[in-house]
Amino acid sequence: MIGSNDNAARDDTQFKADLTLQRLQPRLEELWRSTSIDDSKQHEFEARLAEHWRPLFRILYHLYGARYDFFYHIERVLVTAAQAWADRSEDLCKLDRHRIHEPDWFKSEKTVGGALYVDLFSENLNRLRQHVGYFKELGLTYLHLMPLFAVRPGDNDGGYAISNYRSVDPRLGTIDDLRMLSQDLRKAGIALVLDFVFNHTADDHEWAQMAQAGNREYQEFFYIFPDRERPEQYERTLREIFPTVRRGNFTWHDGMQQWVWTTFNSFQWDLNYSNPAVFRAMLEEMLFIANTGVDILRLDAVAFIWKQMGTGCENLPEAHLLIQAFNHVARIATPGLLFKSEAIVHPDEVVKYIRPNECQISYNPTLMALLWESLATRRVTLLLQTLRHRFQLPKNTAWVNYLRCHDDIGWTFDDADAAAVGINAYDHRQFLNDFYTGQFQGSFARGVPFQENLATGDMRISGTMASLAGLEQAIEQDDEQKKELAIRRMMLLHGITLSIGGIPLLYLGEEWGMLNDYDFVKDPAKAGDTRWIHRPKMKWEYLDELEDHIEAGNGSIRKRVFRSIQKLIALRKTLPALAGQEMELIGTSNEHVLGYVRFWNGHRLIVLANFSESMNTIDGNKLRTVGLGRFFEDAIQGKTYSTSEPVALEPYQILWLNRV
Ligand code: GLC
Ligand code: GLC
Repeated sequence: MIGSNDNAARDDTQFKADLTLQRLQPRLEELWRSTSIDDSKQHEFEARLAEHWRPLFRILYHLYGARYDFFYHIERVLVTAAQAWADRSEDLCKLDRHRIHEPDWFKSEKTVGGALYVDLFSENLNRLRQHVGYFKELGLTYLHLMPLFAVRPGDNDGGYAISNYRSVDPRLGTIDDLRMLSQDLRKAGIALVLDFVFNHTADDHEWAQMAQAGNREYQEFFYIFPDRERPEQYERTLREIFPTVRRGNFTWHDGMQQWVWTTFNSFQWDLNYSNPAVFRAMLEEMLFIANTGVDILRLDAVAFIWKQMGTGCENLPEAHLLIQAFNHVARIATPGLLFKSEAIVHPDEVVKYIRPNECQISYNPTLMALLWESLATRRVTLLLQTLRHRFQLPKNTAWVNYLRCHDDIGWTFDDADAAAVGINAYDHRQFLNDFYTGQFQGSFARGVPFQENLATGDMRISGTMASLAGLEQAIEQDDEQKKELAIRRMMLLHGITLSIGGIPLLYLGEEWGMLNDYDFVKDPAKAGDTRWIHRPKMKWEYLDELEDHIEAGNGSIRKRVFRSIQKLIALRKTLPALAGQEMELIGTSNEHVLGYVRFWNGHRLIVLANFSESMNTIDGNKLRTVGLGRFFEDAIQGKTYSTSEPVALEPYQILWLNRV
């Protein structure tokens, strides 16, 4: 009976969706007349609309149907989508048509990503255009530029406090520079990834300014409270994201004499998505950004976009519905556009954002954290336990596998996964924090604490890949042996993100083994946020070292790291088994060695990775049975292995084994 009720409800919503569209048809016609769009381009839009209108309507009706102004907003959603398609350049439309037929283009073994800050890398967008050759030389086909839109003066959280989504920070260039850069990248076969910072605006965004001026329509864009009563009710179930910035999630605004919801910094005002005007307004910004020539939008802070009293206000079902609604509009208006989820939360929640109709790709924070965990413990037990049931994804989606990014490392593994292998999660996180801040006896790492919460004992870690992997300490102690081990650790981790399945993402600077930059404390706008320690400036003089015949010193380390990463990327691109996401773990019977097989279209590659600084072996027969062969060649070093003997791995060695 319930089934038939469901069906009746569905029929009813479909009827409403269809009737609404029918009623809006004249608006659409009017819009087409006002643009010079030709018939066939118009029909393409209408075909996609026919496919996505009902599900889009169903979501918006569910979220906003009871609102007095629902119809007004849904009309604007439709008109905005049509206008965006009409405005979309022919170049982008061509790419759209292509991607509609190849929705999983990003799963190729040829896809390799990089992320950077425009100002720190090349000062501005125009200079960045001159460095497209650098990305090609490294082998990148996906470039994430950290937020580059206009920001508030002073601290802007590395670009995440946006005051205008339609203009570029003047220090970096203009919207036209961005358009030209995107064209250059497209010609070079590099996809452009930009942030969609849609959970909050800066306190000086026009909407926030209107709110401050007392405009009620815009006050309803945010969560604003006259006194502590409701904030305190919410606070009971909220966690604190930046506890050293401010206790709690609300900020007193002197001008308005009101409290504002600010999950992150006090100058980042959370948007109120229970108001359809906010969805509609952000959608307009999204489509504008997409039409500058963006291939992938990184959905920033996705977990936080829906709030509900009595909950943690993270990962609520409505957050998923909202992203799906944005996604349906993207399918209609900018169909080549993909979404990447930035949910740095519990692994059970991370995976819920990843589906073809929500975010097609996602950061893999659990793998990231557990690779560092394995380096610290020299054991792959927890990593294995976790990957076993958490790596697989739905069809036509992919992980973005990374080691470091502009943010801190949080130990977001699951407590039950830890318990299953005899690890106490609380103690283990303490250990990892001690280890990566260099306090644990014998630690090789040189990280620093981020957002230490004295009340809960919680802490996250800042630091560059090289400093966390031991290179900073080794250089400080001028210890050749330690330098060697640090470099091997870095290459081991890269060897995994480049082969485990999904899109590998380099955080630029890693290719040179960049160390922590302690100078950020000199800048008052940065001093309070240790994440700046791992956001160093590109040093172009390093490139000269590549040509030098230096055999010793830090220059030779950089050269070696750069060339090794470059080589590994190039190698990945020659191995079709590394496409897609299919990965099967191998029980290596050695707690220091991670093993997996990759398959794709009849190709297969076996990866073995030694997480300890001692030699380790695995049974050759094991390799024979999973690899279905007797002789294997390591694609990285070219050495052949016979399965009649134990397979020996050097300290921190990673093998990419092909059957020969
Ligand atoms: C995301 C960004 C982070 C920023 C936060 C607030 O998590 O990665 O850098 O601080 O959102 O925008
Ligand atoms: C929290 C958020 C994450 C953000 C990070 C910034 O962990 O969940 O989205 O990147 O804070 O430090």
